[in-house]
Amino acid sequence: MKAIVTDNLAKMFGRLVAVDHISFEVEEGEIFGFLGANGAGKTSTIMMLATALNPSSGTATVCGYDIIRERDAVRESIGIVFEDLSLDTNLTGKENLDFHATLYHLPKKVKDERIAQALDLVELKEKQDILVKYYSGGMQRRLEIARGMLNSPRVLFLDEPTLGLDVQTRRLLWDYAKRLNQESGTTILLNTHYVEEADYLCNRVAILERGKIAAVDTPKGLKDSLGSSVLSIKFPEGALANEFASLLNGMSWIRNIRRHDGQLELSVGDKGMKIPEVVRLARQHGFVISAIGEHKPSLEDVFLHYVGKKLQSNEHE
Ligand SMILES: Nc1ncnc2c1ncn2[C@@H]1O[C@H](COP(=O)(O)OP(=O)(O)OP(=O)(O)O)[C@@H](O)[C@H]1O
Ligand SMILES: [Mg+2]
Repeated sequence: MKAIVTDNLAKMFGRLVAVDHISFEVEEGEIFGFLGANGAGKTSTIMMLATALNPSSGTATVCGYDIIRERDAVRESIGIVFEDLSLDTNLTGKENLDFHATLYHLPKKVKDERIAQALDLVELKEKQDILVKYYSGGMQRRLEIARGMLNSPRVLFLDEPTLGLDVQTRRLLWDYAKRLNQESGTTILLNTHYVEEADYLCNRVAILERGKIAAVDTPKGLKDSLGSSVLSIKFPEGALANEFASLLNGMSWIRNIRRHDGQLELSVGDKGMKIPEVVRLARQHGFVISAIGEHKPSLEDVFLHYVGKKLQSNEHE
């Protein structure tokens, strides 16, 4: 059975189409990521799947249960870690988990076991009796993840779980998520606007842009679709980029030309150094190039290709 199936799922807020009729499937045991900029529709999508928001149209199932007709069954099957922290900071870590676990009506023994396991996974056992207001941002995020796992969910929704954390803490969280996925087979649907996070964690990534899925594949598949390398060409004046792009247009070895910030990025299909060729062409036609480089396609390049702008420059505060 698929963990998640959506069919033309849509969410309108007045005239704004936040989620634009998306259809996708997530396999059981998969870590599936939505990569998108602010306002792309990531949270709205997760909220609908978690039955916290009514779809405007379309359908979806989570663990085989319909998100509208079988809400309770969906809720029993999922865990969710919201974008905004929602812990009670005047309780200790353990008290937060304990309070949350009572919602699931677990027998005390099972409840205590689950809490201990969850605290173990995110390495917060030593801090369990400290008030959450004295936790660091990273520790609070870890506790949120622990809380999302208490009902042993088959599907865990993580909405930007590492937002605003430093790189080291982010890596730690990635490893917890990976371990949880591998050890208990939990399917994870992750929203992120960190390219490295999607690349490192996800089996498959969907690029979400203005409520639509622009592309979906494994990180490798997405990168490979851009060709074997990317040439970046910088000019002393931005306007030259456009003129030079017209010159390159139609060259058989170029798969795609992208322009941003006065810079050109060429996806090159076949191997073989194209830098000398570009430099020769520039010289021939009187263009001045200030820098040129070649690299293997990254997920950032993929995002730029489909969305037309870089994600990193669009970070949250
Ligand atoms: N309750 C609401 N009422 C009106 N508009 C909303 C509401 N919730 C979201 N939107 C709009 O829907 C669009 C998608 O928002 P959403 O929160 O799903 O995006 P996101 O990808 O999660 O963005 P972010 O990366 O900033 O969290 C945005 O334009 C947002 O302003
Ligand atoms: Mg969001």
